[in-house]
Amino acid sequence: MKDALFECRHLVKRYGDSTVVDDLSFAIGPGECLGVIGPNGAGKTTTIRMCLGLTAPDAGSITAFGLGMPRDALAIKAQLGVVSQMDTLDPDFDCAENLLVYGRYFGLPSATVRERVPQLLDFASLAHKAHAKPGELSGGMKRRLSLARALVNNPRLLLLDEPTTGLDPQARHLMWERLQMLLQQGKSILLTTHFMDEAERLCTRLLVLDHGRKIAEGKPRDLIAQHLEPDVVEVYGQGALALAHAEEHAALRGLAARVEVSGETVFFYTAQAMPLLAALSEHHHLRTLHRPANLEDLFLKLTGRQIREDG
Ligand SMILES: Nc1ncnc2c1ncn2[C@@H]1O[C@H](COP(=O)(O)OP(=O)(O)OP(=O)(O)O)[C@@H](O)[C@H]1O
Ligand SMILES: [Mg+2]
Repeated sequence: MKDALFECRHLVKRYGDSTVVDDLSFAIGPGECLGVIGPNGAGKTTTIRMCLGLTAPDAGSITAFGLGMPRDALAIKAQLGVVSQMDTLDPDFDCAENLLVYGRYFGLPSATVRERVPQLLDFASLAHKAHAKPGELSGGMKRRLSLARALVNNPRLLLLDEPTTGLDPQARHLMWERLQMLLQQGKSILLTTHFMDEAERLCTRLLVLDHGRKIAEGKPRDLIAQHLEPDVVEVYGQGALALAHAEEHAALRGLAARVEVSGETVFFYTAQAMPLLAALSEHHHLRTLHRPANLEDLFLKLTGRQIREDG
C-alpha cells in the first residue's frame, strides 16, 4: 500500500513448537477500518501485541507513520490508541482519574489532559460517571471508558481488540456509533471481532486469519461475492438432517451448489432459491429461512464449522 499509515510485513511469532502468527502481512491506510476476524486462537491478539511492541516478532517488520519498530516504539505508541481484549482500567481510580493517569503516561501536559477529560467522558456518554470507579460501571460503560482512555493522546490509529465482546445489543450499537464518529473524524482503526455483523458494518476491509495465517483479504461484500453463492436456505425441524444425506433427497440437493450441516440445521447455498423453496414447501414439518449469504457463512466456509477450544 503506497500511503499506508501502518504496515506489517511477513510477521512470524512462535511459542515453543507452535507458530501462532505465520508470515502475516497487512497495511492500514488513512481513514480505514481494517477488521481482523478468525477463530479463537487464530493469532489476533498476538498480532496486536506485536504491533504495540509488547511482544517481539520472531521475524518480519513493523513500520508506522514513517517510523520503525522496535527502534521508534515510543514515538509510534504516542500515535496509537489501544483497547485491549480484557479491560485494564485501574479499579482504584474513578473514571476521570483513569483518563488523567493514562494521559500522564504519554507525558502530555497536565493542563491538556485536564481539558480533554470532560470531552472524552462526554464522548463515552459517561459524564455522569466521572467520579464512579470502574467496579461501579456496567460492561458497556467499562468498554466505552477504555475507548475514551485510548483517545487521551489523540491517536491517529486505534487498535481495538474485541471492543464489543460481552456487550448487550444497545451497548454494541452505541459503541458502533462512536467508532463511526472516529472514522468520520479521519482516524484509522484496526478492529478484531467475533461479531460478523459488526465486521460487515464497520470495516472497509477484512483480514481472515486461521492458525496464524491470512486466508482471505478484501472488502466484506467482495469476499462474500467471491466465495459464496448469493442465497442461503436454512432448513431445520424434524427430519431436516435427512435432506443432507438420504438417497431419496438427492434431487433436492441437486438444486443447491453446496449443502452443509451445522448442529440441527441444513444450509443450502444456491444461486436460484425459488425451485429449492418450492421443493421444500412439500415437506410440511420443516421450517425454512431464506436469506442472502453473509459474512458468517464466509467465515464458516473458510475456517470450518468445528469448534476451536484453542489454537
Ligand atoms: N504467552 C503465550 N505463551 C504461549 N502461547 C501463547 C501465548 N500467547 C498466546 N499464545 C497462543 O497463541 C495462539 C494465538 O493466541 P491469540 O490470543 O493471539 O489468539 P486470538 O486470535 O486473539 O484468540 P481469541 O479470539 O480467543 O481472543 C493461541 O494458541 C494461544 O494459546
Ligand atoms: Mg484475542
